[in-house]
Amino acid sequence: MEETTIRKEQIEQLLGEASLCKELYIVKELDSTNRYVKELAENGAPEGVVVIAEAQSRGRGRLGRSFFSPEGTGIYMSILLRPEIELQKAVRLTSMTAVAVAEAIEHVSKIPAQIKWVNDIFLNKKKVCGILAEAGIDASEQKLKYVVVGIGINVGRMEFPEELSGIATSVGNECEQEVKREALIAEVINCLTKWYPTIEDGSFLSESKRRSVLLGKEIRVHHQDGSFYEAVAVDFDDMGHLIIEKDGQKELLHSGEVSIRF
Ligand code: BTN
Repeated sequence: MEETTIRKEQIEQLLGEASLCKELYIVKELDSTNRYVKELAENGAPEGVVVIAEAQSRGRGRLGRSFFSPEGTGIYMSILLRPEIELQKAVRLTSMTAVAVAEAIEHVSKIPAQIKWVNDIFLNKKKVCGILAEAGIDASEQKLKYVVVGIGINVGRMEFPEELSGIATSVGNECEQEVKREALIAEVINCLTKWYPTIEDGSFLSESKRRSVLLGKEIRVHHQDGSFYEAVAVDFDDMGHLIIEKDGQKELLHSGEVSIRF
């Protein structure tokens, strides 16, 4: 197998006891770690399989977008979870993961990390990380079979193209230091190990609110066709859905695209 620059032994040395990570695979390149781990899940792989690619040729983002995944500068990882929870609680996985990843990035960078509902992590008001959780459902029994949690983090110091430089950054750019990917990967897994058990009682939600960039702010809610409306982000419900206020009425947003002007 071709040697990778991300060192598996270094990650394993930094993992805490009773880690969520039971099997760790690091590969040079995949089309998408989420697609690959979904395939493993469909073939019966157990909870705790973690796959990391040094580059992705077809990294997937939310809402059918692609996720730019060049070699050497990022972390592209997917984790297989098989939570024994009711199907309607599966939506909590993205918010819980956002809390864990924000905490991990903050520990490593020493910069307060914020969450932009529902899946982006921000440092200094710019995006450093996106999360994509994809579920496998047993339709006949209405049961959750598995969730693949995909995490993409910009890590190395890098230049962004002009159209992205105002909205995207990397952990290394913000803390102005070399960030070891192994250390950040291990911290992400350690923080996920800590927060994952809260998926049942939802106790991660207060942390999600504390780290939110949206709450109390005027936001734009975007439709797929490019149109938008303005509202105020007022709260989250206990599933992590966003409660907005528009023309004096409260509404619940289940997913979608919102933006905020800093
Ligand atoms: C987003 O910002 O819209 C979510 C991006 C999620 C990217 C990660 S990288 C690892 C995993 N594999 C994928 O194909 N996507 C996720």
